[in-house]
Amino acid sequence: MTNDTTNDRTNSDGLDDTGRELRDALTRLPRTLPPRWLYDDRGSELFSAITGVPEYYQTEAERSILADHSAMIAELTEARTVIELGSGTSDKTRTLLDAFVAHGVIARFVPLDVSAATLHEAAEMLIERHPEIQVEPVVGDFTRHLQRLSDVPSPGERLVLFLGGTIGNFYVEERRAFLGALADVLAPGDWVLIGLDQVKPIDRLIAAYDDDQGLTEMFIRNALEHVNREYDGDLDVGNFAYVPFWDGRQHRIDMRLRASEPMSARLEGLDLDLELAAGEEIRVEISSKFSPSQIVEELAHVGFGADAQVFTDAADEFAVVLARRI
Ligand code: AVJ
Repeated sequence: MTNDTTNDRTNSDGLDDTGRELRDALTRLPRTLPPRWLYDDRGSELFSAITGVPEYYQTEAERSILADHSAMIAELTEARTVIELGSGTSDKTRTLLDAFVAHGVIARFVPLDVSAATLHEAAEMLIERHPEIQVEPVVGDFTRHLQRLSDVPSPGERLVLFLGGTIGNFYVEERRAFLGALADVLAPGDWVLIGLDQVKPIDRLIAAYDDDQGLTEMFIRNALEHVNREYDGDLDVGNFAYVPFWDGRQHRIDMRLRASEPMSARLEGLDLDLELAAGEEIRVEISSKFSPSQIVEELAHVGFGADAQVFTDAADEFAVVLARRI
């Protein structure tokens, strides 16, 4: 397996890049949390459960798009190397890889994820299913380690998958930086396939992030619990209220935890004391919603062809964009 995150620079304050990023995010106002804190084992489990609740339409919508268009995508791209960013269990990717294998050009699959355990599991499953392709997992964070992809041999034209609507987790400037970095590691002729959730009526959006079983709320709370565990912290997670809302100007669902009373907390491992006023919020996650043409434009801006193809589900709720590096 290529690399891991342990070679992050340790800075003079004794923290690695991840610790620093977290400390900055919790200290700077407004307080935020980097999305990686959502995905420890429990978080990954909760997210899997969320994909099965009736209110959360995205996973099925994307699956249906991939089922309908995978063969065409394999044919169009002729990719020999398929790379997946934030691959997780590579669950939906199976359909796509099946189509690529049937098309007969693919030689290598490179999943990149922060979780080594999840990568191993996914790799084993894929090797068993498709012994004819090389599976080369890379441990890394796609916001920081795209460069690691350059270390992996990748014959022929490459296709980078960024599915699930994960692009919605970025703030605007982060998204621009990410797309730029992606363009930088790709060569002319390479492809990207990006899944995005579309803007739609507010009720439907809110319901998807405030499900009746309360799984989304647990998922958001777990991110703080994860931080507590990792950095020996005593943030009183039960003393926050879960506040999901639609930000109509920024076109995003904003998922916050709001302190119910004044709170002091210490995160020993970050050497950080936090003082929160009653009502003060931590912005745990955003989930931006787009029109496909917005993403096509943003891609064109960093060096992808403006003639990207857009695939949507029958209800036109989700979309998958296929663009080529020029
Ligand atoms: C995996 C980032 C696409 O934004 O819908 C689900 C994560 N958060 N419920 C999303 C999530 C709360 C999800 N993404």
